[in-house]
Amino acid sequence: MPVIAVINRKGGSGKSTLSTHLAAWLSQQGRAVMLGDVDRQQSTRAWLKRRAITLPTIVPWALDQKNVLKVPPGVTHVVLDTPGGMHGFELAKVVMSADAVIMPVCHSMFDRESAAACYAELQTLPRVASGRCKLGVVGMRLDARTKAADAMKEWAKTLDVPFLGVLREAQLYVRSLDSGLTMFDLPGNAHAADLLQWDPILEWLSPIMKVPHISRTAAAEPAPVTAPSAQEDGQRVNATRAASLMPAQKGLVPGNLYAFTRPAPSPQVAGAPQFFLRR
Ligand SMILES: Nc1ncnc2c1ncn2[C@@H]1O[C@H](COP(=O)(O)OP(=O)(O)O)[C@@H](O)[C@H]1O
Ligand SMILES: [Mg+2]
Repeated sequence: MPVIAVINRKGGSGKSTLSTHLAAWLSQQGRAVMLGDVDRQQSTRAWLKRRAITLPTIVPWALDQKNVLKVPPGVTHVVLDTPGGMHGFELAKVVMSADAVIMPVCHSMFDRESAAACYAELQTLPRVASGRCKLGVVGMRLDARTKAADAMKEWAKTLDVPFLGVLREAQLYVRSLDSGLTMFDLPGNAHAADLLQWDPILEWLSPIMKVPHISRTAAAEPAPVTAPSAQEDGQRVNATRAASLMPAQKGLVPGNLYAFTRPAPSPQVAGAPQFFLRR
């Protein structure tokens, strides 16, 4: 079960934005996706409750009778959103189960300093040091054509961490998340430039997540038609609905497309949430 964790010590760096988008991307590929918060605030759970039931299915953690968060049955892919300030044992526990860690980094000296410290700690963890968990950086709220994007790339080079791409600042990110949506769920072409920015990020992730990615840049040109491999076919649950997740999804309050719904209260978890992720 491939697991992506989105990590950065700095609050407001774009972790929840990245996590929700990655979960939506995987679910659109027909994968049975869990989006789990390793966070007392459970902010992506609130987003899931706003998400229309007609959209590709994403489920949250299941809470068992002992109050432990578990991956619901049927899930094939996991995205973990994490809180700011995570380090030490909590960080090690998340990374122990991750195949990829993505760090969203904004353009300021404070953000880069904090990300560099987080990256240094990540490198000390055996799963990262041995290459079983891959690390990549995404420049958040950056215009790709500016000096800020170049500076961020240079910074990543000095750390020797893969720089996956940049996502520009766009109010559409804020507005779509408010409605339980992501850029991947929006109809029309008005946000085509934003979707193109995801291409290099998803290309990097697709072999790790074992999900084929059709580049939007390449899709503009005619491509030869190839039959999916038996393995790919087997992994594909359904074009848009992960049937195995339907029981788990019923636990969420369905939102309406573009409607604003009041989030239901999150489960009360005392202290850091205890979770259990079997590899
Ligand atoms: N590319 C973007 N363009 C505009 N606003 C963004 C973008 N990415 C994130 N934001 C906004 O920035 C704020 C912080 O992002 P969030 O994903 O919640 O960060 P974190 O989870 O790291 O605290 C949110 O209000 C979010 O909507
Ligand atoms: Mg967050």
